[in-house]
Amino acid sequence: MIYFDNAATTFPKPESVRRAVNQAIVNYGANPGRSGHKLAMKSSEIIYRCRSKAASFFGDDNPADVIFTLNCTHSINIVLKGLLSEGDHVVVSDLEHNAVMRPLQALKNKKNVSYTTANVSDKSDEETLNNFRDALQENTKLVVCTHVSNVWGIKLPVERITAMCHQYGIYVLIDAAQSAGLLDINSKQNKYDFVCTAGHKGLYGPMGTGLLITPHHNLLDTFMEGGTGSGSEFFEQPAEPPDKFESGTPNLIGIAGLSAGFDFLNAVGIKQIELHEMRLLTALYDRLSYNKKIILYTERPTSGKCGGVISFNVKNIDSETAAEYLNQNYSVAVRAGLHCSPLAHKHFGTEEVGAVRIAPSYFNTMKEIDLLARALTQI
Ligand code: ALA
Repeated sequence: MIYFDNAATTFPKPESVRRAVNQAIVNYGANPGRSGHKLAMKSSEIIYRCRSKAASFFGDDNPADVIFTLNCTHSINIVLKGLLSEGDHVVVSDLEHNAVMRPLQALKNKKNVSYTTANVSDKSDEETLNNFRDALQENTKLVVCTHVSNVWGIKLPVERITAMCHQYGIYVLIDAAQSAGLLDINSKQNKYDFVCTAGHKGLYGPMGTGLLITPHHNLLDTFMEGGTGSGSEFFEQPAEPPDKFESGTPNLIGIAGLSAGFDFLNAVGIKQIELHEMRLLTALYDRLSYNKKIILYTERPTSGKCGGVISFNVKNIDSETAAEYLNQNYSVAVRAGLHCSPLAHKHFGTEEVGAVRIAPSYFNTMKEIDLLARALTQI
């Protein structure tokens, strides 16, 4: 199988990640933070190390700012439901995933939270910034924007959006599900309020891992409470992070793998990974632009302007059929349809037909791109 569905989850994982998962299961998988025996201490140490690696990877000097979650959706829910109250207003980009739109819609229905959508300009960051500014209201508490669109690969100017919002005292949530591990996310330097991401995509960890990085835990109410292995004599939830947000037994096995994922990224270097993916994507883009059957929507990928994704359609063939053709005839794995992001599809008018998405990882090769491009001339 040639796997180009890395925006859904990276596969394969690095050998070191597989080894770390195996070791956690075989050698020490006790419950961290609950008991004092050697195996439990080893588990706690693994979790602490991963938390420290995550903090420094995202440019944060405080490991307690890193909350382990189940996935990026979980992280986003912690922020939206913990921060927003009756009557608050939110601005979102028009490229957001349902991980943002569905909790926001639920808050709209249940708590009278309102939201406005700001258009992302395909041509100018300045225009995007102005659109966000124009959408702000007196009661805007939060701006949510994806760092890189999971459908179109378009990168948003999150640094500038954050700086602009801070002038008005508005918090910003960055959905870094597609960008973490590919683009530099320096949380402290850029003063990001809430960075939410998945552990199983560009960070090369296992599924069931996610991260929320924030210095603003005091602003967030919890929507889940329970055992943490700390302060067990009290019924009150611990007030300090990370325990405040990490109730119940954590995903030690996944976190052990994620920790090895950070080591992998630090060893290879995310710039190298980005360059590799960009080389593959520009080569594919150029081949597709000569193919008269293909409809491309976005500009040619350029480093710094987009993440590792291209979506397109084949004329007169719906996206699911095209994906199935690649799967059946060439053993090529891609994701078609709406990618859980109907709003992002509306942006280019593909909400009825969806699109075929190609998302390489560090492990894809130019030969595989060549095969895909050839397959698409035969479709
Ligand atoms: N959010 C993931 C995707 O874009 C699952 O495919």
